[in-house]
Amino acid sequence: PEKGLKDYYKNYFPIGVAVNPRMVQPGSDADLIKTQFNSMTPENAMKMGPIHPEENRYNWKDADAIADFAQQNSIKLRGHTLCWHNQTPRWLFTDSTGKTVSRDVLLARMKRHITDVVGRYKGKVYAWDVVNEAVPDTGNSLYRKSKFYEIIGEDYIEKMFQYAHEADPSAQLFYNDYNTENASKRERIYQLLKKLKEKKVPINGVGLQAHWSIFEPSRQELEESITKFASLGLKIQFTEVDVSVYPKEHERRERRDTDKSEFTPEMDNKQAAQYNMLFDVFRKHRDKITGVTFWNLSDKYSWLDNFPVPGRKDYPLLFDQNGKPKKAYESVVKF
Ligand code: G3I
Repeated sequence: PEKGLKDYYKNYFPIGVAVNPRMVQPGSDADLIKTQFNSMTPENAMKMGPIHPEENRYNWKDADAIADFAQQNSIKLRGHTLCWHNQTPRWLFTDSTGKTVSRDVLLARMKRHITDVVGRYKGKVYAWDVVNEAVPDTGNSLYRKSKFYEIIGEDYIEKMFQYAHEADPSAQLFYNDYNTENASKRERIYQLLKKLKEKKVPINGVGLQAHWSIFEPSRQELEESITKFASLGLKIQFTEVDVSVYPKEHERRERRDTDKSEFTPEMDNKQAAQYNMLFDVFRKHRDKITGVTFWNLSDKYSWLDNFPVPGRKDYPLLFDQNGKPKKAYESVVKF
């Protein structure tokens, strides 16, 4: 059989991919997943809004389809995510009269949710992103002003880890966040994780999302993140890797006439060089890294299409729109 990313990296770490339920139906996407990857993360299907749309109703179908595919093909499965301020169901924060619920009610609801979801995939999901993106991008606070924080208080984070640990004591539990190469945010995430470790919260690792671009991060910024977080005794996983071909200063909400949405040879080369550097660093720090997951399969579809600029396509992955390996793929497997 054809050699895939997972084979090149078998002595390093599992290589994962974010998937939606359509991709695991028989077809070329499913074939590409099976050839290339030995880990998967549901892109949306296990988030609270999609999987728990009403207080007394779960929608297991999509997550089950992904979990079954993973089992049938001996692919590891990461669970994403138990507590996040986005994609929460409508019912979560209010009672039947529309009034905001108390701390105790919200804790009980989250405990129920986590117990049910982690319990259902016990033995199938080996690692969970328990709390996602709890640290704000700017300012001095360690805590994003989310509804979880406002209603429960700062100990909501440790509670979520305790519930998850009780539901599956063998699952590896992660805190997951983005912009982790930004010096200020990195420091605040570090301080939060340090507190959790000091309080003996059952946390095994930190997920660094890795939504990057051909311009960032630098080798130095990346290595600083790895050594800093590993110094807490946490395992590191890169959980949502993609390399946008657009510079950060293009982060704007409107489309310009000069936006061509074309994948140019220059982008191709720069992206290959960036991916080459990233994986070179990952390999060097293999003793600290237990997984690297791409946020989507191929340039046919990415959450970066239309984001942040409507009408602009991005090309952030290793496979092109036809599922064929790009220059970036070669730069990752030649070492
Ligand atoms: O499923 C509904 C569908 O029923 C509805 O008709 C349609 C109309 O807009 O929306 C569909 O839901 C969309 C969903 O993706 C599935 O396609 C949501 O609107 C859309 O907001 C959602 O976007 C996801 C995003 O998280 C939400 O914040 C992206 O797919 C997903 O890639 C992205 O992933 C996040 C990670 O979970 C956390 N880290 C950042 C990362 C990128 O934003």
